[in-house]
Amino acid sequence: MAISLFAKNKKGILNRCRDDYATKMRLKYAPYYHAMEFQKDTTVRLGGRDMIMLSSNDYLGLSFHPKVIEASTAATRKWGTSTNGARSSNGSRTFHVELEEKLAAFLGTEACHIHAAGYLSVMTSMATFAQKGDVILADKNLHSCLWDGIQISRATVERFSHNSPDDLRDVLASSNSDAAKLLVVEGVYSMEGHIARLPELTEIGEEYGCFTVVDDAHGFGVLGRQGRGTTNHFGLHEKVDLICGSLSKSLASTGGYVAGARDVIEYLRTNSKQTIFSAAISAGQAAAAMAALEVMQSEPQHLERLWANTKKYKAILKGLGLDIWESETPAVPIVLGSKERVYPFWKTLLDKGIFTVMSIAPAVPAGKDLVRTAISALHTDEQIEKIGEAMAYAAKKL
Ligand SMILES: Cc1ncc(COP(=O)(O)O)c(C=O)c1O
Repeated sequence: MAISLFAKNKKGILNRCRDDYATKMRLKYAPYYHAMEFQKDTTVRLGGRDMIMLSSNDYLGLSFHPKVIEASTAATRKWGTSTNGARSSNGSRTFHVELEEKLAAFLGTEACHIHAAGYLSVMTSMATFAQKGDVILADKNLHSCLWDGIQISRATVERFSHNSPDDLRDVLASSNSDAAKLLVVEGVYSMEGHIARLPELTEIGEEYGCFTVVDDAHGFGVLGRQGRGTTNHFGLHEKVDLICGSLSKSLASTGGYVAGARDVIEYLRTNSKQTIFSAAISAGQAAAAMAALEVMQSEPQHLERLWANTKKYKAILKGLGLDIWESETPAVPIVLGSKERVYPFWKTLLDKGIFTVMSIAPAVPAGKDLVRTAISALHTDEQIEKIGEAMAYAAKKL
């Protein structure tokens, strides 16, 4: 009896996989998981054709910087390809500690802990610090990894309207006043390109005793002095308790970080399951991030070029009358409003040699279906011109 029940359940899950509508649609239209045959800087080759990459998050263009490649290669030779386990079980390596100290110094925090994925770092920033009985004040447009962490924490969630201090105040005024509170925002919203209204949000958070967390995956490298991020941009170190983010964007690597006061980071090392039970970042990844961090401080031209390119690109899009959701940063959505409009727009860009990514509801709010683009310091003037021509053509076909 027990066996037949087990077999039935197993089949149920298999059937769910086979019947899944979203998967069928994905396979039919094939917008994701393209396997590029080659990449150099912002050029990728797909099906034998060179294309311009316009959806990567290599904002500063350091993934192909010679110093970053050299550092990563040398570290792999010295330490091997993997750490083969969690630091809690087979120990840290000196490169872990070195990168954590450098990141903490750069971000202006006492301490930092790194993980093998940004998703882990950001998720654990919720899962570790909030618990049942607490209240999490969450911007409605947060990234999936924050929602996952929130769910694991089992805290009560109170959502406030995207980037709205007024709504945050209203929600806080009507929430349980005795509960411990955590306020969470993104420094730069990954889809929208909006900068968090941190001065107002943190002031309200402080009034209500919130532990404030900023996921700065898209602000790091882009905002603030030398790219120190959104907190630095606003000069709000005192008001933010935890900064988390990714090494896979401006830092040209793979991995993530959580930075804050020493006692907070030590609490994470003791209590975070995502930290204790997951293998540590490899030497090659850590060394790439460390070298990129060094380049960010010694070569200001990358950040300057990023913003010059962003300005040029946005002027083109605005000139075409495209809706960029008031993006304030190099993460630039092109809002088209429905999947029926997004798909042909995306496909036309692809046919014209521009690689972008579609994002449709529920990944974005209903009515905000979009093509997400991100500009890099490595895009050349010629490439931006070509992108503009393709956008004009796709916009005309709408
Ligand atoms: C806002 C935000 N947080 C966290 C992450 C996770 O970072 P990673 O891709 O390095 O795991 C992402 C990735 O896209 C992101 O956009």
